Amino acid sequence: MLPLNDPQLLKQQIFVNGQWRDADSKDTLAIDNPATASKICDIASAGLSDTQLAITSAHQALQSWRNTTASYRAEILKRWHDLILENINDLAAILSAEQGKPLAEAKGEIRYGASYLEWFAEEAKRLYGDVIPSKQGSQRLLTIKQPIGVVAAITPWNFPNAMITRKVAPALAAGCTMIVKPAEATPLSALALAELAQRAGLPNGVLSVIVGSDAIAIGKALTDSPTVTKLSFTGSTKVGKLLIKQCADTVKKVSMELGGNAPFIVFDDADIDQAVQGAIASKFRNAGQTCVCANRFLIHQDVYQEFTDKFVAAAQKLILGNGADTGVTLGPLINADAVKDVHTMVCDAAKKGASRRLGGQPSSLGTNFYPPTILTNISANMRVFNEEIFGPVAPIIAFETEQQALQLANATQAGLAAYLYTQNYARIWRFSEDLECGMVGINEGIISSEVAPFGGVKQSGNGREGSKYGLDDYTEIKYLCMGGI
Ligand code: SIN
Repeated sequence: MLPLNDPQLLKQQIFVNGQWRDADSKDTLAIDNPATASKICDIASAGLSDTQLAITSAHQALQSWRNTTASYRAEILKRWHDLILENINDLAAILSAEQGKPLAEAKGEIRYGASYLEWFAEEAKRLYGDVIPSKQGSQRLLTIKQPIGVVAAITPWNFPNAMITRKVAPALAAGCTMIVKPAEATPLSALALAELAQRAGLPNGVLSVIVGSDAIAIGKALTDSPTVTKLSFTGSTKVGKLLIKQCADTVKKVSMELGGNAPFIVFDDADIDQAVQGAIASKFRNAGQTCVCANRFLIHQDVYQEFTDKFVAAAQKLILGNGADTGVTLGPLINADAVKDVHTMVCDAAKKGASRRLGGQPSSLGTNFYPPTILTNISANMRVFNEEIFGPVAPIIAFETEQQALQLANATQAGLAAYLYTQNYARIWRFSEDLECGMVGINEGIISSEVAPFGGVKQSGNGREGSKYGLDDYTEIKYLCMGGI
């Protein structure tokens, strides 16, 4: 890992009730760099008793935190935001080392992650209720919004910083306390965030970070606990469904940001150069390991050849390598299993008739690297069409009519993002309204922003993160009926 200006940001213990501690069991967990396959460090690996302590301290801290003023909470969130940006180089070095993405992209994630803290520091002050006109002259009806309570967040390895702040910021802004369980592959970014939160003045117990190799047991302890009133999860649809079931017994509110299978649709009237630029950004961001990545490219037959040739030429310019090295634009996948999964899907497509226009074989750079891959002659019976690829593989399929494009785009149980390239305004409206998804990029390949609602429909989950709607997932509406007036 690149040397840090502030070595105190590389934490090797869990963070519970404002204390850095080893696990009760003294167990540890090795954290590896996916680019070099070498160990970065060992960290404490929490178990059930550590998780229970985090829940108890979150509950204790809630009693005072929920009664603080919004501007007090906002000040702490803002200080935390500023500290993150002051330490961006160190945080990016940690993130790139544990996750693999190139340094420039890691810095982009740190800025993106910090933006949620600033946004919700401001939104905290706008947690308005309503005055409702009553049917009775003797009554006055009101609503107030209150924090939902102790929240658990289970976060993924693909954005080890931003997927935490996107949940912690609205939760803390609303007056909730939170226990974060980051992915066991990438906990160092989460722990560095906790260190900066403490420096920003966050009271003990308001935020705890529990890391452990037994993710199933920790997840079960969080979902079984009646003290935890809400679970926010980002990750696979399979795990999300399991967690929803586990939350049923205690009737927890859940927010689920699950897998996608985004169509990237290019019509014959599109600006093809703009579409290629968007395709590269959307497909190869984080080496294709994002839920909103373009997963299937649906290209009108009249521009199919031009788009494909230009897309291949642009993808050939990507530089695969260790994210810490200058000039690298595409990092490794998270581990060798991910490479195996991606390659199995490519082989399935090839066996069913797909052509490898670019890449399509594991890279000689190391076990965790997979090159940019573009497949043509795709059909709907291939796994790359039906499943989330989560790697740098772009399957291209030609369509003839708008109706056919819509049918292909919606032929999935996932409904997170979709991308649409056309200059026809009537079609933009028609198509955007008919797409079964939560977010549409129109002549745009990167759509994520703290000011906009992020989330999906169908089996891509529920709830919205970011935007003016983001606080709703962390609040309850209470209705007050005042009589005798
Ligand atoms: C994700 O892949 O889960 C999040 C991507 C984003 O926020 O853009």
